[in-house]
Amino acid sequence: MLFGSSYYPERWHKEEWKKDALYMKDIGFTFIRTGEFAWSSFEPEEGNYDFKWMDEAVKLFKSYGLKVILCTPTAAPPPWLTSKHPDILPETMEGKPFVPGERRHYCFNSLVYREHSYRIAAEMAKHYAENDNVIGWQIDNEFGGEEFICCCDNCENAFQKWLKSKYKTVGELNKCWGGIFFSFEFTDWSEVNVPHGHNTKFLNPSFKKDYLLFCSDSMRDYIRLQFEALRKYIPTKTPVTTNRFSLFWGDLWYDHAMDKELDVVSFDNYDLEPSLAAFHHDYYRSIKPERPYWVLEQGCGINDIWTDPKELLLQTIQTAARGAELVCYFSWRQINYGVEQDLYGAVLANGSPGDAFSSLKSACTWLNGEGSVISQMERHNEVAIVFSYESSVTWQTNHLISHVKYVSEMYETFYTPSFELGLGVDFIREFQNLSRYKLVLIPMHIVETPGAVETLEEYVKSGGIVIITGDFMLKTQNNHRIYGEKINRMNSLFGIEHEKLLYITGDKPTAVKLEACKCAEEKEYSMHGYYNRFSVKNTEDLTVKARVTFPDIHAGSPAAIERKIGNGKLLLIAGLPSAQWVKHELKHLAADAGIKTFEMLENTEIIKLFRKDGKSGAYVIINKQNKTLNMDIGDDKISIPAMDYRFVEI
Ligand code: GAL
Ligand code: ZN
Repeated sequence: MLFGSSYYPERWHKEEWKKDALYMKDIGFTFIRTGEFAWSSFEPEEGNYDFKWMDEAVKLFKSYGLKVILCTPTAAPPPWLTSKHPDILPETMEGKPFVPGERRHYCFNSLVYREHSYRIAAEMAKHYAENDNVIGWQIDNEFGGEEFICCCDNCENAFQKWLKSKYKTVGELNKCWGGIFFSFEFTDWSEVNVPHGHNTKFLNPSFKKDYLLFCSDSMRDYIRLQFEALRKYIPTKTPVTTNRFSLFWGDLWYDHAMDKELDVVSFDNYDLEPSLAAFHHDYYRSIKPERPYWVLEQGCGINDIWTDPKELLLQTIQTAARGAELVCYFSWRQINYGVEQDLYGAVLANGSPGDAFSSLKSACTWLNGEGSVISQMERHNEVAIVFSYESSVTWQTNHLISHVKYVSEMYETFYTPSFELGLGVDFIREFQNLSRYKLVLIPMHIVETPGAVETLEEYVKSGGIVIITGDFMLKTQNNHRIYGEKINRMNSLFGIEHEKLLYITGDKPTAVKLEACKCAEEKEYSMHGYYNRFSVKNTEDLTVKARVTFPDIHAGSPAAIERKIGNGKLLLIAGLPSAQWVKHELKHLAADAGIKTFEMLENTEIIKLFRKDGKSGAYVIINKQNKTLNMDIGDDKISIPAMDYRFVEI
């Protein structure tokens, strides 16, 4: 595994670089990641490039055996650029303008910014193309990180073009948006506006959905542009990536699947809570499973919790066991000015080791020595969760139920129970490769996906087990409610008669009681968010598994049904089940599928790994509790002290 750290030579005198390089070498680092905010140092004024300082830094770090991941500096356009071209500055949905002094203050659709971004990326790539100490490139920094979507005039123009290429005629646009409702019919493309201003909540949902898809495409075009600039000059073997971040910083506006087009997928890992960090590892790993991902920022030293030697070790073990190939800590050295002056690093502002230094050293030494077996193993997960960007966007356009957050539900309701049962999970998109998995969860897949019903039926027939929620494909790709033929097809897949999609609001969730389940565990659970009220067809292969008990108006109606199709089965849950209910069902269904489960306690984690020869495997068990963890693994009883781990061969 490669270890390194973010480092910003432009912030320190040259003499200090040596000190830093020496300490990094001492830890066992093999690279630095640098350049992502240094545009004004690379190009102090338009067309006047200065790469000398970075050349010197790259050379010096090389002499200490440290390679470099170079970043394009476009996350921070310098004032000479934004004052010459103010249209670079974005405008939020609420109509708020941006000022320089922060970062990410640019619009993806500013043609001027695209031109300058291409230029600086290409200049850097040209300059460093032959430098074999540069081992990778990062485009920009944390795309989308400032949590706004741009609604400026550039975006309005680009949106009109985007719509034109999607719908060809204004008449088609009017039809697909249902423009006849509220007189939202256009006679010319130039009349289309951006969702900008007061009360965007009640905007036409087809329009809102298209705007989000358009924003995602704009980001993708912008990334491609920089990717092309780099690829034009740098060697084929040098990978290009970009660093994503927490899925909980704002809604999911952009489709991360676009990162598949880059060489490596990367993200920044700032979660210490094991299940939350695991969710992000699994999510990002799954975007491009054929190529191990990178963690381009992992907290270290920032504050006390990021300093603890055990935290740092356990977190890095998790990163290795979940499949990352490289980890870059943030940050190396505290900076004593600017907005991040109060964040500590591995070394202090004066260059001497801080509290995190020795913790980092022991974590990296261990993982590259005794622990290196972990990063050489692979995962063969048996459970998949279908993740649908388009469904997430569709849910965001629903003003009646804006409290239901797709990503939060994915994590809290569906991922967490799987994690607590020790199940290895991959995320898959649009029903790809279903047959690799024994058990598939399809939560909140509200958007119609061509061919999905057939694929699903096929999968279940051949022995697959599915948990699916009642909103399944209730909206068309244009964001209209489905009806007629389409709803009949869904009805016949599930063996039901769909009546209504109801929203569960108010303080009390809908209560349900399990029937037909003979186990000794809890039988009373709940549903929240929404509820697909349906009746069932009396067929032999269908069992009602749960019924509503509250509110009275729905009491007795089915809340979950199980349908056997061929060799497999499908559990349809009418609404969003509580996490406890999901756990209950998962336990039964995993047993049916022959997948082993565990009862993991809070702050503990188990990851199943396999050797590359496929013959043997191991469990990595992490105990982040403040007490000993006792567990049965097969016939072995193991005991792991507080804040410790075990590697158990199987
Ligand atoms: C990250 C960002 C870094 C730095 C860090 C501070 O999200 O990419 O540049 O700001 O947060 O914790
Ligand atoms: Zn814009």
